[in-house]
Amino acid sequence: MAVLLPGGAGYIGSHTAVELLNAGKEIIIIDNFSNSKPEVLENIKKITGKDFKFYEMDYADKEKLEKVFQENKIDAVLNFAGYKAVGESVQKPLEYYTNNVSGCLVLLDTMRKYNCKKFIFSSSATVYGEPEKIPLTEDCKTGGTTNPYGTTKLFIEQILKDLYKSDNSWDIGILRYFNPVGAHESGLIGEEPQGIPNNLMPYIARVAAGKLKELSVFGNDYDTPDGTGVRDYIHVVDLAKGHVNMLEKLDKEETGLFIYNLGTGKGYSVLDMVKAFEKATGKKVPYKIAPRRAGDIAACYADPTKAKKELGWEATKTLEDMCLDSWNYVKNKQ
Ligand code: UFG
Repeated sequence: MAVLLPGGAGYIGSHTAVELLNAGKEIIIIDNFSNSKPEVLENIKKITGKDFKFYEMDYADKEKLEKVFQENKIDAVLNFAGYKAVGESVQKPLEYYTNNVSGCLVLLDTMRKYNCKKFIFSSSATVYGEPEKIPLTEDCKTGGTTNPYGTTKLFIEQILKDLYKSDNSWDIGILRYFNPVGAHESGLIGEEPQGIPNNLMPYIARVAAGKLKELSVFGNDYDTPDGTGVRDYIHVVDLAKGHVNMLEKLDKEETGLFIYNLGTGKGYSVLDMVKAFEKATGKKVPYKIAPRRAGDIAACYADPTKAKKELGWEATKTLEDMCLDSWNYVKNKQ
């Protein structure tokens, strides 16, 4: 029995593919390389020494997807095929709703047809909107997303809840990621944003590499210890391992719909991140204070207790690991 990974060549997908292979799972990747490169597949094989099947296709292509289900025995699906750029989603809402929501519906409908009902969804802390309290627990209210990307995550969570209510033979894990950063320690896979990065860590790494002049710190007048935004940065390898634990829980237990925060429980400010990166790498990261970015919140970090208790999972990598591995990846690419 295999585990299907739509979007498995992307940032989170590729790291999860590695951890699933390391855990002895058989995987199948489908990807259309809309935000990834074919070489990632070779690098997953290099890291793990293991092979897997690959289909180059759009995950929402119903006909092709049916063929994948006909040709293979698929036990579970982990969906990494969502678009994820917040700013772009504001410019291209239809593309985001189509790919993320309609695409996921095609996938779920096909799974149901082939009686594959184990599904893990890549959700995001963005579903909490303006946090009701911090640290955020899974029962905090959701909603009030500020961009179409975030709203697609919220909608799909609702769709999954409705689906489970209608048919409780589904077995669903919703993982709410906080801020994934870093890269595999091999430096072979990592995050490769197209164009100028929107997210903090890839931006910092490119400033350190001399590819970008300076970091703009978006606001220093938030109600946080140093005035800059606070987030829960989590190493992508820790995050990837969380999926393996989630899958093992779905395999073991009776069916259900489970929701977990995947974060470290620690909040770091933008300036903390700059300092940590400089300390870990010995590189200078010049920055200037700029106005707040629209849609940003002051602080957001997880209470990861539920995942620890029920999945037996917790993040183990340090902020230094996150900085070093991000740098190692960007440096290797130069
Ligand atoms: N920031 C800067 N300068 C930059 C980029 C970011 O100061 O050039 C700041 C932001 O204002 C924020 C922090 O760094 O305070 C983190 O920003 P990111 O863009 O890296 O991450 P966000 O927290 O805005 O968003 C991330 C993911 C989303 C996800 C969200 C969940 O990008 O996909 O976390 O909370 F929805």
